[in-house]
Amino acid sequence: MKNSKNKRRDFLMNVCPTVAMAFMGITVLESCSSGDDDVNIGGGYGNGSGSGNTGSNNGYSKDGNVVTINLSHSNFSSLQSNNWMNFTAQNMLLLKIDSSTYRAFTNSCPHQGNRNNWSFNSSNSRFQCSAHGNSYPSDCSTAGTAGGVLKCYTTSLSGSTLKVTV
Ligand code: FES
Repeated sequence: MKNSKNKRRDFLMNVCPTVAMAFMGITVLESCSSGDDDVNIGGGYGNGSGSGNTGSNNGYSKDGNVVTINLSHSNFSSLQSNNWMNFTAQNMLLLKIDSSTYRAFTNSCPHQGNRNNWSFNSSNSRFQCSAHGNSYPSDCSTAGTAGGVLKCYTTSLSGSTLKVTV
């Protein structure tokens, strides 16, 4: 029959080698994770094959009124190649000013609320809504040709992670 000290050691070895080593005073820089189940907003994703509307495998997640976007995810590749995109899943327009500056806007047109008729004219930095031909500056302050200013959201960028407060 094993004594209690041996039982404790057997238990620790069965749980996780890292935990066991930690109990014995050995420091290691690994976790017990198998390595393929990590969710890391800022660190790049795998193949984007996850499910769920706001799952991190779609390149973004939403917590309260904050939408966190992984800019390096393939779902946002058109933002990188075209410098703008209509992020319809969260009803927002995203605009890349440069590699360290992004803006986000509602995709509800100030005129009559259409969400899916947008294009961006880089020569005058205006969003154009083809529903009735109105256009809106992307400076977050100047009124467009009808309905006022295209509403701007607060953004913050950290590495390839863009947070938008809606
Ligand atoms: S709804 Fe956009 S221009 Fe009328």
